[in-house]
Amino acid sequence: EEEKLSLKSDFHEELLQSLPKEKGWITQYLYLYQQFWYRPTLIQPTITFQKHFQAKHDDIVIASLPKAGTTWLKALAFATMKRHHFIPSQNDHPLLHSNPHTIVPYFETNIGDNPSVIPDLSTLPEPRMFGTHLPFPSLSNSIHNSNCKIIYICRNPFDTFISYWHFSNNIVPSPLPTLTLEEAFERYSEGIHPFGPFWSHVLGYWKASKDTPNKVLFLKYEDLKADINFELKRMAQFLDCPFSEGEESGGVIDSIIELCSFKKMKELEINKNGKALDGVENKYYFRKGETGDWVNYFSPWMTEKLSKIIKEKLSECSLSF
Ligand code: A3P
Repeated sequence: EEEKLSLKSDFHEELLQSLPKEKGWITQYLYLYQQFWYRPTLIQPTITFQKHFQAKHDDIVIASLPKAGTTWLKALAFATMKRHHFIPSQNDHPLLHSNPHTIVPYFETNIGDNPSVIPDLSTLPEPRMFGTHLPFPSLSNSIHNSNCKIIYICRNPFDTFISYWHFSNNIVPSPLPTLTLEEAFERYSEGIHPFGPFWSHVLGYWKASKDTPNKVLFLKYEDLKADINFELKRMAQFLDCPFSEGEESGGVIDSIIELCSFKKMKELEINKNGKALDGVENKYYFRKGETGDWVNYFSPWMTEKLSKIIKEKLSECSLSF
């Protein structure tokens, strides 16, 4: 029913009917569009974005699979990029009053009310910052052809899966059922999850980061957790706004890390009780914020199965988890 309500045009309905579908998460079905799985409501806005979005050379795109650490990366990139305008240590910083998904909106979900029309984004303050879960090949040509920069965050697929399982069960609209861990795992390990398959998504950005390292920066959630100072400096360098020695000794890096820390963000009023642009309660973006939580959920057969799949699918790259 949810899908039916969301059908905005005959064209959309026709398109959906022509696409392969499988049982979904959060929505009844997921649809295969350009080799990735989508919630039905995202297909029309994605097409609109692909056709009409005009990138500017200094745009910054935060790309990820859901639950890879997007919220954290959006906050870090915004705080870093705009640090001369919004002082990270001051208590009127936008990140203290708005959720990162409001500040750095998604192309495919948050932009505009009419999914067939792209609003005028030319007046947004520059550099403009956007988020996306779209796979690399499906970004608009304008992004591919401009000098804008993309930062991708990837997370160990075990943790990404557990995080997404919790998240989707929290936001699933009634009367759709929540999924058991086994049901969700079954779909995930076949690559059937929003913006999946996991491996194709990761590989697309990974390859792009190897081919065009000045355009795509590939980060890992685990690396950020292990050494945020180092990774933040790398990010600033990539964004052509490296921290000066004076900034470093003056505590700017530390202020950004503190401002964007899980503990700090989770406790903010806006993240406890507010809602993001798509109506999702902000609190669901902050669960545990740890690496390795998956061991509390996976049984030995699940670990074996997913390890094997990931090893096989990612064999052509040097990524390991
Ligand atoms: P867990 O469910 O494992 O806790 P996304 O932002 O891509 O939706 O990913 C959400 C995951 O990132 C959740 O993982 C969430 O707790 C974690 N997260 C959110 N904000 C974070 C932060 N500031 N630092 C570290 N992890 C964070």
